[in-house]
Amino acid sequence: MSVFLTAGRRAALALVAIAATACSPPETAAPAVRDPGAQLYAEHCASCHGADLEGQPNWRERKSDGRLPAPPHDHSGHTWHHPMEMLFQMTRDGLVPPLAPEGYQSDMPAFGGVLSDDDIRAVLGYIERQWPEEVRAMRAERFNPAR
Ligand code: HEC
Repeated sequence: MSVFLTAGRRAALALVAIAATACSPPETAAPAVRDPGAQLYAEHCASCHGADLEGQPNWRERKSDGRLPAPPHDHSGHTWHHPMEMLFQMTRDGLVPPLAPEGYQSDMPAFGGVLSDDDIRAVLGYIERQWPEEVRAMRAERFNPAR
């Protein structure tokens, strides 16, 4: 009996393995795992900027503490208006001079001690890849004009 069960189990496992291979080849499985930027975004940014980069509600209006809510990172926000180097600095250092006035109060954390420079570039790369083609073309023209 136990021999039968073991053999049956083994066959079942083999079938599951075949099914998994047939239905989900590695290239299409679990995008969050394949894309380190998406993973980092989900872990470190989504709580404020939204799982779909949608930002916090009424993000243009200051809260009662005078601070701004987290803006969207999708094309409805203003993240894409800024050059990549500036986004990098804001993420690494927070909103401090020269990117913001001295003493500016913001809920945007500085990720310099939390994420490596490569991680920051990966997460910003993920955000950039969510922008529509027109937006990316506009940025390319504005920030890297053809010589
Ligand atoms: C605790 C909440 C919080 C988390 C977590 C957070 N942010 Fe922010 N972020 C904010 C807020 C609030 C602002 C707007 C601050 C302001 O303008 O005063 C902001 C602004 C920004 C800006 C500037 C956007 C612009 O258009 O000027 C960037 C870039 C940014 N965040 C990137 C990130 C990235 C990348 C992560 C994850 C690694 C992240 N943020 C995680 C709250 C957060």
